Amino acid sequence: LHTIPYDIISDWMNQIVKDHPDLVTRVEYGKTYEKRTISLLKIGLNTEAKKKAIWMDCGIHAREWIAPAFCQYFVNQILQSYKTDAKMQEMMKNVDFYVTPVLNIDGYIYTWKDNTTRLWRKNRSLGPSPDCYGTDLNRNFDANWGTVGVSFNCSSNIFCGTNATSEPEAQAVTYFVGTRKDDFLCFLTIHSYGQLLLLPYGHPNYTASNYEELMKVGQDAAEAIKKVHGQNYRVGTSPDVLYPNSGSSRDWARMQGIPFSYTFELRDNGTFGFQLPEDQIQPACEEAYSGALHIITYAHNQIYSGAVAVTAVTLWTLLLAAGVTLM
Ligand SMILES: *[C@@H]1O[C@H](CO)[C@@H](O)[C@H](O)[C@H]1NC(C)=O
Ligand SMILES: *[C@@H]1O[C@H](CO)[C@@H](O)[C@H](O)[C@H]1NC(C)=O
Ligand SMILES: *[C@@H]1O[C@H](CO)[C@@H](O)[C@H](O)[C@H]1NC(C)=O
Ligand SMILES: *[C@@H]1O[C@H](CO)[C@@H](O)[C@H](O)[C@H]1NC(C)=O
Ligand SMILES: *[C@@H]1O[C@H](CO)[C@@H](O)[C@H](O)[C@H]1NC(C)=O
Ligand SMILES: *[C@@H]1O[C@H](CO)[C@@H](O)[C@H](O)[C@H]1NC(C)=O
Ligand SMILES: [Zn+2]
Repeated sequence: LHTIPYDIISDWMNQIVKDHPDLVTRVEYGKTYEKRTISLLKIGLNTEAKKKAIWMDCGIHAREWIAPAFCQYFVNQILQSYKTDAKMQEMMKNVDFYVTPVLNIDGYIYTWKDNTTRLWRKNRSLGPSPDCYGTDLNRNFDANWGTVGVSFNCSSNIFCGTNATSEPEAQAVTYFVGTRKDDFLCFLTIHSYGQLLLLPYGHPNYTASNYEELMKVGQDAAEAIKKVHGQNYRVGTSPDVLYPNSGSSRDWARMQGIPFSYTFELRDNGTFGFQLPEDQIQPACEEAYSGALHIITYAHNQIYSGAVAVTAVTLWTLLLAAGVTLM
């Protein structure tokens, strides 16, 4: 596996649609600051029923190149396992996967320019003062915006923007997910590095109502990750295992009511950082896939597993209540 520039990723998206017209469509849902079209792959079986949804975005931070690679790996993997795996077939029937391989396209392209731009993090919007580019998109969402772990200095790497959701990339996600928020079971946003599974909230004074369950599912996902290549992932809220922050898309998604919202910080743990060697791309993707699939399967089963049995019991109860006797 290699990391590849954006136009090749875009070509790859079109090829995936061509190869799987029954399962995949490409959906455009916004524009970046530099007017590039933001798009995702929607993957699932067309059924008559109303489906639930899984969100995954990669590349909100430009320099975290393993993240777009992971989104591509994830898409290839679910399409591959769909052919033979009964569980994946069941999930494709019940849910649609919405996968954005590169959210911060302007920033990603900028990091490909030359050595001096490789470690750019933010988007490329012009700031409030001259010579000041970029907002940290993962501080720009409307979730305790501007309160902790941010800077109002536009030269800072954690500049949160002039307002909550001031950035077009954050607006695109906010609109697309926000208008379908009841459908989404999972919101997985993929970053590097640190080998962490972060759960809401980034603000130390707020606790997610399902914190215990998020921890348990996260720890099981970390165990699934460890089984693949022995790598350790730590699990917890951002203040507990990394640093406090506000305005993240993960926190925003949880505040919208999406139950299973996680940030993945992929390999490594600091040795190479953002410049992960190519020979680690494949194993990093393999192990993270295992973790993501654990979370997705758990969330899916909360809604769908045993649904038939529950319906039968409910019907029986209703019939009894109505005084109907079944022979
Ligand atoms: C860019 O990085 C490459 C590889 O690390 C190096 O060979 C090259 O000299 C660098 N160029 C500049 C302008 O720093
Ligand atoms: C980046 O940040 C600026 C504000 O600093 C914002 O106006 C712009 O829309 C953001 N997006 C991009 C791609 O630059
Ligand atoms: C803003 O941040 C830049 C870069 O870190 C720094 O050089 C500058 O002094 C800061 N400005 C203020 C007003 O703090
Ligand atoms: C930012 O938000 C404040 C408070 O909601 C509002 O008064 C202001 O007009 C907004 N600015 C922009 C640029 O949207
Ligand atoms: C959290 O609450 C404490 C006590 O009310 C307060 O002192 C502190 O500033 C709050 N932390 C943040 C980041 O707002
Ligand atoms: C990173 O992981 C390696 C291998 O597991 C370990 O030797 C090293 O101490 C870790 N570094 C940090 C900063 O955790
Ligand atoms: Zn990041």
